[in-house]
Amino acid sequence: MDNLDDIRRELQDLADRLEQCDRAYHQLDDPLISDAEYDALRRRAEELEARYPDLIPENSLSKRVGFAVADGFGQITHSIPMLSLGNIFSEEDVYDFMDKIHRFLGIPADEEIEMVAEPKIDGLSFSAVYENGQFVRGATRGDGAVGEDITANLKTIAGLPRKLSYDGGDLFQSNTPAFVDIRGEVYMAKQDFFELNQNQIAQHKKVFANPRNAAAGSLRQLNPAITADRKLSVFAYAMGRIDGINWATHYEFLEQLKRWGFPVNPEIRICHSADEMVAFFRMISEKRSGLPYDIDGVVYKVNRLDLQRRLGFIARSPRWAIAHKFPAAQAMTRLNKIRIQVGRTGALTPVADLEPVNVGGVIVQHATLHNADEIIRKDIREGDTVVIQRAGDVIPQIVRIVPEKRPADSRPFLFPHICPVCGSMAVKEGNDAVTYCTGGLICPAQAKERLKHFVSKEALDIEGFGDKNIESFYELGWVKSPIDIFKLEKEHSLEILNLEGWGQKSAVNLFDAIQTVQKGIPLNRFIYALGIHEVGEATAKILSARFKTWQQFQTTMESDGVLETLTQIEGIGPVMAQEIADFFAEDHNRSLLAELVPLIVIQDEPERHIQTTPLTGKTVVFTGTLSTLTRPEAKERAQQMGAKVASSVSAKTDFVIAGADAGSKLTKARDLGVQVLTEEEFQLLLDERKKTDYDANSFDLEEQENGRTK
Ligand code: IVH
Repeated sequence: MDNLDDIRRELQDLADRLEQCDRAYHQLDDPLISDAEYDALRRRAEELEARYPDLIPENSLSKRVGFAVADGFGQITHSIPMLSLGNIFSEEDVYDFMDKIHRFLGIPADEEIEMVAEPKIDGLSFSAVYENGQFVRGATRGDGAVGEDITANLKTIAGLPRKLSYDGGDLFQSNTPAFVDIRGEVYMAKQDFFELNQNQIAQHKKVFANPRNAAAGSLRQLNPAITADRKLSVFAYAMGRIDGINWATHYEFLEQLKRWGFPVNPEIRICHSADEMVAFFRMISEKRSGLPYDIDGVVYKVNRLDLQRRLGFIARSPRWAIAHKFPAAQAMTRLNKIRIQVGRTGALTPVADLEPVNVGGVIVQHATLHNADEIIRKDIREGDTVVIQRAGDVIPQIVRIVPEKRPADSRPFLFPHICPVCGSMAVKEGNDAVTYCTGGLICPAQAKERLKHFVSKEALDIEGFGDKNIESFYELGWVKSPIDIFKLEKEHSLEILNLEGWGQKSAVNLFDAIQTVQKGIPLNRFIYALGIHEVGEATAKILSARFKTWQQFQTTMESDGVLETLTQIEGIGPVMAQEIADFFAEDHNRSLLAELVPLIVIQDEPERHIQTTPLTGKTVVFTGTLSTLTRPEAKERAQQMGAKVASSVSAKTDFVIAGADAGSKLTKARDLGVQVLTEEEFQLLLDERKKTDYDANSFDLEEQENGRTK
């Protein structure tokens, strides 16, 4: 009779060995053993597992889906950017929104512009691409331009068609466009959410706070088998690139979606006026709690697609649509304690520890208090009863205190003058409302926060390196600076394996994630990861786009005249420039970089196709009445073509575009010798662009972002 313990041990050894070999083979391209040896190990494991199914180890091949996914999700560039929506919060805003649309289009206020009103589903947006009618790939929204490849996970969602169906026989089938990119929302129905949590409780697993989090957690599983296990649903509501069909209206497009087999929300209605839109909003608000899925507002969209195209976009949101959000949920609770958190930059942020309370379906235990002034302004004290508010994903806020409920012995909160973490002086500078710890590098709180920032999703994105791990590795003295992260496997792997909560699998995953990052990280993310004050994601992108390579960036930052070089870049102001220059002037930052940079492959900024038009960089002035475009529309078009639009003519003006009855501006242009274009000539320029690349959606997100920060 075999000894079961021996068998168990052998199976575990085999699984570990095979896992190691797989990793070496698939991820490091560096096989440890020959194929024949590998096959022999594998056969032995399979034989034993067949005889002792109860002893199969967790990391056995038979339980693993594969290694290809361990690197995280692949990336998919969207056929056209996936944008977000502007928000409005009141009924009055609905009327303003419609006014703006009328004005932009030059349609009289009393003339109808048909709108479509849709519930705003509280889930995660997706894009699904069909080639010749077959679902081929799907992605998350990501940063709008590039999303994560969730093809395998989307395939597990029953509601999403794998094939576009057709209702007109062969004729229609042969008419199915070759390329169809559909956008919509993945969500978890309330009932499925409830059942999932029941199961999680039964299995002592994490409980999800709300259906949206559950949907996100389920969709972003590297193992699609887990996604398949969770019940997810979809609604389709928007289009990406679709070749060959031109619908006249959004509503007709929705009808087509239904024929293709997509679930389309049944509440969607056409509205003929702002009054009807408001009525729809009220009706949906009433219905909200009874709907089988969570919604967080209503989306209004201009129905006619030609009008949508004319309206175009502001920054990342369409001008032809808006989200009307439900009011934030509020609740009353007791503020137990005001705690001071020290952030990455040394800012002392007061946080309210609350008696846990349910606010619109989410249990809230903390709220931000912003800074010392805010506490004084709202006279917030420990022990107070407070009204808190939560809107969407936003951190809960304290709206006000309830004075009647203030305890008799209450005392005003004294904001500390020393850092509660390192004991250094904490000071306020100038008019800044924020108090900063002056401890700099000696302050453990700052050091830890910098490390958390360094590995965070938007920076190096080292998966499996959450805040808790950073905290404990820091306390243990294993990770004090970013460099230590890359020494972790060599110097502390055995100790990590022995830490509570860690196993072979989680440790290997962490080391893999670290190695993956070392193999290549985009320049902009590396710059962001450095945590230079004032340099957020957008600025990091600007810097990356301007300097192209780390080498070039670092050399410039360390040379004379850096301030001037930086302030000349659009989107970089003097304060930012000073912070960046200061960072590179600090000795400890320089020596950190000297050690860090050789450890990581920093990828050059990819070459971008930059569109130039006859108006790129030119200053234009409009005058007179245009007959084919409204002023705002004309201005928008000129800006889309890279022009600056000015209101008065000067020697710096490149073009004056003159409509009917042009007056003094035209005379001045002639006097100064500025080139004058008629409306027809301006139209020709626009048409020229339309022919080559015009697509209301296909603008460069980066350029927009830069333009806005300017
Ligand atoms: S339309 C270009 N319609 O809301 C416009 N979005 O806050 C694309 N959402 O990113 C969006 N329900 O994830 C649209 N009926 C609906 C929606 C909807 C939910 C989400 C979507 C979007 C976010 C913007």
